[in-house]
Amino acid sequence: MTGFPKDFIFGAATDAYQIEGAMLEDGKGLSVCDAFYGTPGKSWNNQNGSIACDHYHRYLNDVAIMKEIGLQAYRFSISWPRVMPAGTGAPNAKGIAFYDRLIDALLAAGVQPWATLFHWDYPLELYKRGGWLNPDSPLWFAEYTAVVIDRFSDRITHWLTLNEPQCFIGNGHHSGTQAPGLKLSWAETLLAAHHAFLAHGRAVSVIRARAKKPAIVGYAPVGCVFMPIDADPGNIRAAYEETFAVRPKPEVWNCAWWMDPVYLGTYPGDGVKLYEADMPKIGADDMKTISQPLDCIGTNMYQASYCRQRADGTRERLDHAAGIPLTTYTWPITPDVLYWGPKFLHERYKMPVVITENGMANVDMVFRDGKVHDPQRCEYIDLHLDAVSRAMADGVPIHGYFYWSLMDNFEWEHGYRHRFGLVHVDFESQKRILKDSAYRYRDIIARRNA
Ligand code: GCO
Repeated sequence: MTGFPKDFIFGAATDAYQIEGAMLEDGKGLSVCDAFYGTPGKSWNNQNGSIACDHYHRYLNDVAIMKEIGLQAYRFSISWPRVMPAGTGAPNAKGIAFYDRLIDALLAAGVQPWATLFHWDYPLELYKRGGWLNPDSPLWFAEYTAVVIDRFSDRITHWLTLNEPQCFIGNGHHSGTQAPGLKLSWAETLLAAHHAFLAHGRAVSVIRARAKKPAIVGYAPVGCVFMPIDADPGNIRAAYEETFAVRPKPEVWNCAWWMDPVYLGTYPGDGVKLYEADMPKIGADDMKTISQPLDCIGTNMYQASYCRQRADGTRERLDHAAGIPLTTYTWPITPDVLYWGPKFLHERYKMPVVITENGMANVDMVFRDGKVHDPQRCEYIDLHLDAVSRAMADGVPIHGYFYWSLMDNFEWEHGYRHRFGLVHVDFESQKRILKDSAYRYRDIIARRNA
């Protein structure tokens, strides 16, 4: 693996609901995640994030682990209802103090904090007032963002607004498999998405207006990528087009619907045509609000499928070859996703790319020697970073890579069934063990720094 410039950022990522726990502590308000995953039947073995990795109490130990790995940056999310229990109005001093302590500990350890403003834990009180369907929701989010920026932007310079709208809107509001578990009509789903885009835009404006230090601002949707089956230019074009094609409802796994409004200031034409009957009413200034200039393309990119061009010029998605390796999450291992994905996103949106998530769930167990050997994950990291460096060698500006996840955690509707971490967590004792992959990542980072 070659070609990582000195300022390339190697980090790892988490988010509040999946690790913090302390659901009812120090005045925290409830979120839709607390409510949904606290309801029997919504997750594997009825597990939930009320304790999770108990990071709220163990953050110092977790920061020490980050330092041991040599992480240059840590992407975490701020829990909206921890900071503002009712979503708007009075902030919660104790909740804010937690993030103060975390940020200070990170800086003392030499780890740059990257904060995500929203990773799905929408305040329950606001949900009761309509949540993302309420046209005031962008204003509520802006109010929360102002509190966060006023308090933390003296120390945090890297911000991501929304994490994976495909999931919290698509899974959360249409298929209902994730919090808040709604099965709205397609028209209402698109309306909720439109409000989320507006919330993003308003948050960007708040950051620009109030940040105490120059801010780097991005957004972290799912990178839904298709890769060409080979280097034939027709197949490359087909893969690019498939990556940005909007497909009939209820398919949310595409890039353009979720990124064009933000980066190009318009909804993609093919999608508008497909969704014509269900389109939200778009206010005169909406697209301008949504497309406030950003500094980078954040993308959560894990896997991709292949595509090719047929003889008649149409595109064809291909099934994976028999026997392709699958993670325990059953995602195929396709390292070239981090070659083609950033390339395509950069081609369309003309901005530097940051891989805000990439990682795998593996059969991780504590061996008799007390260690957690995860050679598959070591190889996974090597292969994916190699793809990143090949894309960079081709001229794609990629500024950083965040492994998902720092530690094993609550995996939404799958409970604690899948282990994505560099660090093994025993959820009974909360004991942490650095996996072999944590040491591998440490060595990669150290070698680059040498
Ligand atoms: C995200 C992701 C994470 C998941 C990871 C593995 O939105 O950031 O959903 O929260 O844990 O993608 O599924």
